[in-house]
Amino acid sequence: MTEPLLEVKGLKKYFPIYKGLFRKEIGVIKAVDGIDFNIPQGHVLGMVGESGCGKSTAARTAIRLIEPTAGSISFMGKSLTAMSRKELKSVRKDIQMVFQDPYASLNPRKTIRENIGEALIFHQLVSSYEEQGERVAEVLHKIGLSPDVMNRYPHEFSGGQQQRICIGRAISLNPKLIICDEAVSSLDVSIQAQILNLLHELKETLNLSYLFISHDLAVIRHLADQVAVLYYGKIVEYRPTEELFQNPQNEYTRTLLAAIPKMKRKK
Ligand SMILES: Nc1ncnc2c1ncn2[C@@H]1O[C@H](COP(=O)(O)OP(=O)(O)O)[C@@H](O)[C@H]1O
Ligand SMILES: [Mg+2]
Repeated sequence: MTEPLLEVKGLKKYFPIYKGLFRKEIGVIKAVDGIDFNIPQGHVLGMVGESGCGKSTAARTAIRLIEPTAGSISFMGKSLTAMSRKELKSVRKDIQMVFQDPYASLNPRKTIRENIGEALIFHQLVSSYEEQGERVAEVLHKIGLSPDVMNRYPHEFSGGQQQRICIGRAISLNPKLIICDEAVSSLDVSIQAQILNLLHELKETLNLSYLFISHDLAVIRHLADQVAVLYYGKIVEYRPTEELFQNPQNEYTRTLLAAIPKMKRKK
């Protein structure tokens, strides 16, 4: 087994519930309630579960975009939990995210070049405007777009192309891990397949690892090596993808499998 890239143990995130004028704390929402998972280098962990079960919170706390209530996290052998905000910043380059709504993730007033290339300057990975242009052109090539689109704006593209651009922005920094949070959920089925193919291709050529989150098990099957099934903040089943599909152990996993339309179930 290859060394884990990201390893999470006992991760919890509780959100307080307040009530009344004095905002008295009357309870907590246990959004993530003690989960363990690890993503070996080059692997894809699928995380599945219905809306509100804690997938996004699990992902965000796992990289400390929001502070965990409890748990330990290590990334490339280093404790993320112990890191200062400043140290975290340098790790952030290695972990990128792709979200559900590509248009909302892009800056509509900035060109594709700026949307993709800004972080290169922020992280001082390029030293000139020309170099930035070259790097953005390379990225566009990798995501299946022509370098000619560099000076255009996000609204000029389809949803699928916009998601390609978001993926381009994510890979521009040569990350180790990409978290895809419902990254294909807003796209038409045929476009979904194209984006899933692109993600697969990029994973192979760039040696990436993914935490791939979706409420849809059919989508997860295409990419994931292992699947963690989340139910009310807890992992109820966590196994290699094909095993999970062939022989689900948990009642809730069976419900999710049954929800996949028959046509999609064949592979
Ligand atoms: N910032 C927050 N404050 C309070 N509750 C939150 C917050 N973020 C998420 N939650 C709650 O945590 C639970 C899990 O949410 P989320 O992680 O977004 O689920 P999912 O991504 O699986 O749809 C939900 O009950 C949600 O309402
Ligand atoms: Mg979510």
